[in-house]
Amino acid sequence: MKTMLNIALPKGRLGKKVYGALAKAGYPCPDLLEGNRKLTFENEAAGVRYFWVKPSDVAVYVERGATDLGIAGSDILMEYRPDVYELLDLRMGRCRMCVAGPKDFEDDHTHTLRVATKFPAIARSYYNARSREIDLIHLNGSIELAPILGLSDVIVDIVETGKTLRENGLAVLDEIVPISARLIVNKSSDKFKGAQIRRLIEQVREVVDHED
Ligand code: PRP
Repeated sequence: MKTMLNIALPKGRLGKKVYGALAKAGYPCPDLLEGNRKLTFENEAAGVRYFWVKPSDVAVYVERGATDLGIAGSDILMEYRPDVYELLDLRMGRCRMCVAGPKDFEDDHTHTLRVATKFPAIARSYYNARSREIDLIHLNGSIELAPILGLSDVIVDIVETGKTLRENGLAVLDEIVPISARLIVNKSSDKFKGAQIRRLIEQVREVVDHED
């Protein structure tokens, strides 16, 4: 029986782009882009099954072996540190993890800094490294609202085009780290399906190198 590779794709624009590279690399599954509500797709001849997963959940599926492979942003990998192999930088979905706040913000070290973020571990480690005491406010979205409403002094968040910050009167105060999509692999899948996984990675690498 043919060995199938199960791949968690992040739902949304990045997932479609990554799928484009996988299809070009020899792992197509055309019904995947048909725009219905189906979440699972299979191309037996190509030896691949795809699953549309919420982007922040991809690493959970891969770490627990629900899928062999997945595509996750390096922001999620930094935040949750899943026990997986990170085998390829796809150089897609590029953005930056930043500290942002009001344009004229000046940090007053006599007060605890209030930081709103979706990425508490990244924010904590950034400020720990600077010995800056913070009050961490964990939000799930629309982070830019926090300094506008006085809920926080600054935010730690992803900046892609910078449009959300600009349109809300905020600016980048410091860049923490560049972010991009990574191909991650479950550790036991890597042992038991190693040959198929290496082949897929080499084929995707060629496509990505060619497109870069
Ligand atoms: C992300 C991020 C910023 C925005 C940055 O939010 O949290 O708000 O994108 O993109 P830009 O620099 O191109 O404007 P997302 O769209 O994921 O929504 P969210 O508010 O639910 O986090």
